Amino acid sequence: MSNIDWQNLSFSYMKTDYNVRCWYRNGKWGELEISSDEHINVHMAATGLHYGQEAFEGLKAFMGKDGKVRLFRVEENARRMYSSAEGIMMAKIPEQLFIDAVIKAVKLNMRFVPPYESGAALYIRPLLFGAGPKIGVSPTDEYLFVVFVMPVGPYFKEGFKPTNMMISRQFDRAAPLGTGKYKVGGNYAASLKAGELAHSKGYAAVLYLDSKEKKYIDECGPANFFGIKNNTYITPDSDSILPSITNKSLIQLAKDMGLKTERRKVPLEELETFEEAGACGTAAVISPIGRIDDIDTGKTYIYSKDGKPGQLSEKLYNKLRAIQYGDEPDPYGWITIVE
Ligand code: PLP
Ligand code: COI
Repeated sequence: MSNIDWQNLSFSYMKTDYNVRCWYRNGKWGELEISSDEHINVHMAATGLHYGQEAFEGLKAFMGKDGKVRLFRVEENARRMYSSAEGIMMAKIPEQLFIDAVIKAVKLNMRFVPPYESGAALYIRPLLFGAGPKIGVSPTDEYLFVVFVMPVGPYFKEGFKPTNMMISRQFDRAAPLGTGKYKVGGNYAASLKAGELAHSKGYAAVLYLDSKEKKYIDECGPANFFGIKNNTYITPDSDSILPSITNKSLIQLAKDMGLKTERRKVPLEELETFEEAGACGTAAVISPIGRIDDIDTGKTYIYSKDGKPGQLSEKLYNKLRAIQYGDEPDPYGWITIVE
């Protein structure tokens, strides 16, 4: 595509050539279908529209220097989509069907995979929702699985530069025994008001505290949180946050770099003790945190004064990206080459 400005992509919707679809009807999944239509014809009583029976995923494909296109940990996304489907009683997508649909969507849109030099990637968005009509509150028996793709740049406009986050006790994203650990649309609807308030005040995202006690760090809007101190990578353990595949990968890479790693409850006060902090996720990659403002108490936590990311965050970022783009070996089998 000659008219795409690969260097300056943001994280926004762009039409590509094809999407892939698959229907679940009469108790079974059908064949993968290819469509060039951006629209879906949905029944007005679909449970996905009324009762939030919807889940999605997000993963990326990267063009290497060698011209090969690499998917990062697609099996993990397949498993998480399976768990989300289980969590809100939707038809579960077999792992291989999910992977086949993702690969097909990438192959059909190869011309949209950003070139290696751009540092951008092809974002893949699988989604699954209740498409059958049902007006009583119970799961439907018809589902549509769709995979579409688009080339993207950084999620936070700062890219790999420190961003600022806001803490507020006026909003919860997910209830303690609710759906926070699933990637379901309702969690994101619940985060819109807080997110827009944060944006209007100049923050990149909300750093949520746990909904029950407001004592522990949960996660950062669309990404997990980590802090680094005393050569240790620390990330919250919570039942109401999304189990981030990026975070899981960073824990492994941190260990490989000789850091200790801890996944445990992170009390709010501990923010004061971190030397570095960041948000991590597929879209966010690593977004270093420059400052966190608690807008209820007026307290501020500063991690970067010079506009530069911390040293260890940078090392982790470089290592992760090197594996994703195929610049360095893939010792854990995280990569699937799209052939
Ligand atoms: N937390 C939330 C709420 C998210 O939406 C995401 C994005 O997928 C993440 C964390 C990061 O997860 P992953 O690294 O698997 O993309
Ligand atoms: C991702 O990182 O893939 C996400 O889904 C985050 C956000 C765009 C919702």
